Amino acid sequence: MYRSQTAIPALRGPVPLIHLILRWFIQPGNRVVDATCGNGKDTLLLAELAGETGQVWAFDIQPEALSRTKQRLDEAGLAARVNLLAVGHEQLAAHISVPVNAAVFNLGWLPGGDRSVVTGTDTTLPALDSALQMLVPGGLLVVTCYPGHAGGDMETDAVLAWSAGLAANRFHAWRMGQLNVTTDAPFCLLIQKATTPHAP
Ligand SMILES: C[S@@+](CC[C@H](N)C(=O)[O-])C[C@H]1O[C@@H](n2cnc3c(N)ncnc32)[C@H](O)[C@@H]1O
Repeated sequence: MYRSQTAIPALRGPVPLIHLILRWFIQPGNRVVDATCGNGKDTLLLAELAGETGQVWAFDIQPEALSRTKQRLDEAGLAARVNLLAVGHEQLAAHISVPVNAAVFNLGWLPGGDRSVVTGTDTTLPALDSALQMLVPGGLLVVTCYPGHAGGDMETDAVLAWSAGLAANRFHAWRMGQLNVTTDAPFCLLIQKATTPHAP
């Protein structure tokens, strides 16, 4: 079962797969974070799934990304559900003081924008730490990594090491990537906070 879906999704690259998973997990009334709103596609989905009673926080450091996201939300009539924040996701904890059900990180650059502005290890790792701490039990952190650009490879390695180092009794960390593509193609990580921590 997947909700709010009108057509069969084409599972080309990690984002459609992530969207399928989000459709399964996010319930009306949920609080969710888009840590890199970019063109607003993920934010729009999160706003749809969180529903009228839910709340979305969407971060980006580029005014162009925020205005594209705002336009997308305005067109869908969903802007009231979203707090658009013109700050880096490394400041997540300063802006969100309640537990959240999911956080989405789509790393890299703004498609159709300035490719010199990219997410970076120094800010991504603290932001991932913050997001993980905010998750409710059973909550989900999803990260799309882009190892194919300069700097993206180092960021990807750091995020992979960070994920692999999470305590297995508290988090379920998964890696999902398409096999019949180049080895530096984007892939996604899925980290769930355990519903009940178990003995190590
Ligand atoms: C791949 S795009 C995101 C795509 C977006 N989720 C969508 O659905 O269109 C990555 C975005 O991360 C943003 N970004 C880079 N560093 C950031 C930071 N420290 N905090 C928040 N956003 C950042 C970039 O400006 C860019 O818009």
